[in-house]
Amino acid sequence: MNLEGLITISYIGATILFILSLGGLSNPETARRGNLYGIIGMTIAVLATVSAPRVSNYALIVGAMAIGGSIGILAAIRVKMTQMPELVALMHSLVGLAAAFVGFATYLDPTSHLTGAEKTIHEVEIYVGILIGAVTFSGSVVAFGKLAGKIDGKPLTLPGRHFFNLGLLIVVVLVGKAFLNAPTIQAGMMPLYVMTALSLLFGIHMVMAIGGADMPVVVSMLNSYSGWAASATGFMLSNDLLIVVGALVGSSGAILSYIMCRAMNRQFLSVIAGGFGTGSSTTPSAGAAAQPQGEVVAVTAEETAELLRSAKNVIIVPGYGMAVAQAQHTVFEITKLLREKGVNVRFGIHPVAGRMPGHMNVLLAEAKVPYDIVLEMDEINHDFPQTDVAMVIGANDIVNPSAQDDPNSPIAGMPVLEVWLAKTSIVMKRSMASGYAGVDNPLFYKENNRMLFGDAKKMLDSTLENLRK
Ligand code: TAP
Repeated sequence: MNLEGLITISYIGATILFILSLGGLSNPETARRGNLYGIIGMTIAVLATVSAPRVSNYALIVGAMAIGGSIGILAAIRVKMTQMPELVALMHSLVGLAAAFVGFATYLDPTSHLTGAEKTIHEVEIYVGILIGAVTFSGSVVAFGKLAGKIDGKPLTLPGRHFFNLGLLIVVVLVGKAFLNAPTIQAGMMPLYVMTALSLLFGIHMVMAIGGADMPVVVSMLNSYSGWAASATGFMLSNDLLIVVGALVGSSGAILSYIMCRAMNRQFLSVIAGGFGTGSSTTPSAGAAAQPQGEVVAVTAEETAELLRSAKNVIIVPGYGMAVAQAQHTVFEITKLLREKGVNVRFGIHPVAGRMPGHMNVLLAEAKVPYDIVLEMDEINHDFPQTDVAMVIGANDIVNPSAQDDPNSPIAGMPVLEVWLAKTSIVMKRSMASGYAGVDNPLFYKENNRMLFGDAKKMLDSTLENLRK
């Protein structure tokens, strides 16, 4: 078999492995295997691509892989679990940047001698590729800033922003016409620069307009965009594998965005149009439920242990604070102990708990919590009325009753875990601070709610100690 045939077969093999990888990643039990398929697929894809006859400068490739690989390994070792979403947003921005650079490089390629319709199609690919790449790049950088708390989570709602976006789109189309009609490469550069600048501006404006409460949708949407950017790169480079893999990432990201929207009871287009989620604790919503309501009842770790010991049914609701405190191992120790004593302990996972899709599942899997006691929100929500203790560990927005009671709340309409329906709910957090969406939580003031103030890991360690006594 000649080299070209071998490369084609390798590409088909890699594509199959990527599909199996995505399938595996959809379930915590098979995620490890899915990851392995992805690694093998990517290794095959890279080896097949660099062995193509048109690749000649191996020194450059090895040098670039060594630098990129070292940065990747360092980032993976250093980054904390809580910084994962920011890292993912940064990675998306790199895919976008790469697509834009490939677009410029392809346009300037002196070896390309296309004419007629072929040239036009190629230039449309370049134009669209740079456009998607630039939007993905700047949008992901802003998302990174918002997730890292470096940019205010409040939505930026400029007056007439929809007209502004529409205006940008019209100018991009007109500039595209000028680009396609450019007689020389030099003449085509100016329209490309203008479009790139407008796309960067659009990416910034689009994500700035989305409030803190809707960030899960933004993260998955940018994930999808990065896939389409990779696909566009595949068209520019005439690389079938990149087209297919980009489309896989793009469409799975789009499905994830849909799932996120459903989890938050949002319309995808409304989220993209922006303006939801005030994202700041200084601007509570106008509804009564947003105002602090009375006293909170604080408990100690000892009292928490007592409540757990006398319970028959316990539901644990983990949130972002469990990730911050790295409390998952102690949570599992407590779970084991209670189960040994005959208590029915289960976990209730909200689809947007934490800061990235599947965040809580990853942490609980790391702590080796059996999958059969980890249930999705829809599977467990109706069980709270028959539950003795609902233990909320570092979660806030996902257990906020104002999502149901206060139509003016930024999280109004978002399905939440109804922990207040349990006989007793215990909320473990360090202070009365609001969660990511920046709204007050009336749960804290409910009669059957108890607050266990302190770092989740320390409080759980102490609870465990008391349970063992
Ligand atoms: P949050 O609403 O952010 O609440 C987390 C709570 O954990 C905070 O109120 C904080 O209160 C507490 N906490 C922080 N560190 C702690 C520690 N060391 N020990 C104990 N408690 C600690 O989180 P959630 O309930 O998981 O909801 C997720 C939110 O993030 C939603 O608004 C969602 O829209 C948003 N979001 C989600 C995603 C995805 S894809 N999952 C992506 C972006 C944004 P104290 O400061 O008082 O301790």
